[in-house]
Order: sequence, then structure tokens, then C-alpha cells
Amino acid sequence: MKTAVIVAAAGRGERLGAAVPKAMQLLAGEPLVVHAVRSVAAAQHISYVIVAAPPDDVASVRDQLAALVSAPTISVVLGGATRQQSVAAALDVVPPDVDVVLVHDAARPLAPTSLVDTVATAVRAGHDAVVPGIPLTDTVKQVDARGAVVATPNRATLRAIQTPQGFRRKVLARAHAAATGGDVTDDATLVERLGDTVYVISGAPEAFKITRPLDLVLAEALLATRRAVR
Ligand code: CTP
Ligand code: MG
Repeated sequence: MKTAVIVAAAGRGERLGAAVPKAMQLLAGEPLVVHAVRSVAAAQHISYVIVAAPPDDVASVRDQLAALVSAPTISVVLGGATRQQSVAAALDVVPPDVDVVLVHDAARPLAPTSLVDTVATAVRAGHDAVVPGIPLTDTVKQVDARGAVVATPNRATLRAIQTPQGFRRKVLARAHAAATGGDVTDDATLVERLGDTVYVISGAPEAFKITRPLDLVLAEALLATRRAVR
């Protein structure tokens, strides 16, 4: 049973507001995508890593990964206009001998390798779709277009969902083949639309996503702490 990891890295990072695509943003001197690939490639039983890169950075990502990450086979493909299209482009080149596929955001550079292992193990154990999630700390309200509150779901039933997300390859391929565009922010959503069950397991605080400038400050501090205790 071979496992591949897709790293979605082709976004622009508009909310971060940097001059470069988010995956190319430096964290402790290295692009986010390098950190993310290093973490997933260190997991057990990963045979392939496929990165969907921003349009102008395919060659640069390829070169930097070759220079900085010792890993199983790494390939880099051109990403798409949406995250779903980027993942689909990477899925297209997953070798035929793979039956478990993990999908990870380059924007989560500090996701622990142990989380990658846990997700992969859960899929290999027989689940079709497994995602990490953590309980929310803020109260969440649904609002209408005017900003008026429509509902306040019970916080105890909610989870903030992270990556890596793990799938049986056939299920993920079917889910992407059925995708119809729109605002899909993770792969599990597509599997849910097929009517399949997606299991949530305990996520990791360190798998937080870098979205806004403040998140980079946290990531720099976390990385400095990790390096100091080593
Ligand atoms: N992503 C991708 N291809 C896209 C859009 C997003 O591979 N066309 C990836 C991003 O590179 C990121 C992950 O999906 O690693 C999660 O997306 P998000 O945090 O929204 O990143 P961006 O789309 O880059 O950021 P923004 O929405 O602020 O522009
Ligand atoms: Mg985005």
C-alpha cells in the first residue's frame, strides 16, 4: 500500500499581502513550501511528494526542494487557478501504485510529522477520509449579507479543520472528478458531497495555517523555540 502526499502551494496569498506567492514567503530564511515538504517527507512510508506550484515559480520550487529537502521522489507541477484545481493537477500525476493520498497546505509549514503519520495510519487502517481538527476557542456566528446574526451553532460540536487530510486514492479521485468549481476550501468537502463519511481526528495546534501577517510572527517564534530546545 503506497502513500503519496500532495502539497498545495499555488495560491497567491492575498490575505498575507506579500510581494511573492505565499508558498515562496520566507520563514527563517526558507520558503514555506520547503518547510511543509520537509515535514511531510519525513513521515513514515511516504513514497512520493507532489507539489502544485505557483505559475511563475515551478522551476524555482523544483530547484529549492532538490537542494534543501532530502526526500522520496518529489515532483513539481503547475498549480491551477483554485485550490481544487491545483490539487487535481497534482492528483493527475500520482503514480499508479499509490492507493493512499494525503493533501497538505504549503501554508501549514509547521504541521508536525507525527500528525502526517497519524493521518496516514488512519487511512491505511481502513478509513476512506480522515481530517485533523481542533476545537474552536471563539464563538462562531452565522451572519447574513447585512451582518445580522442568523444563528449561533453550539461551539462544542464544531472543529477547525486542518491539513494534512488523508484519503483512499479512489475516493479522492472520484471527489475531484465530481467537483464543479466554486469556493471549496478543502478536499474533505468534495468527499462529503459524494455522501461518504469523513472522520475527524485530533489535530495539532502547530498545524495552524499562515493566512495573515500575524500568523507569520507566530510561525517565526515557534520555529525559533523548536530550534532552541533541540
Ligand atoms: N492553493 C493552491 N492553488 C490555488 C489556491 C490555493 O495550491 N489556486 C493552496 C495555497 O498555496 C495554500 C492552500 O491552498 O497552501 C490553502 O489556501 P489559502 O490559505 O487560501 O492560500 P492562498 O489562496 O494562497 O491565500 P489567499 O486566499 O489569502 O490568497
Ligand atoms: Mg485562498
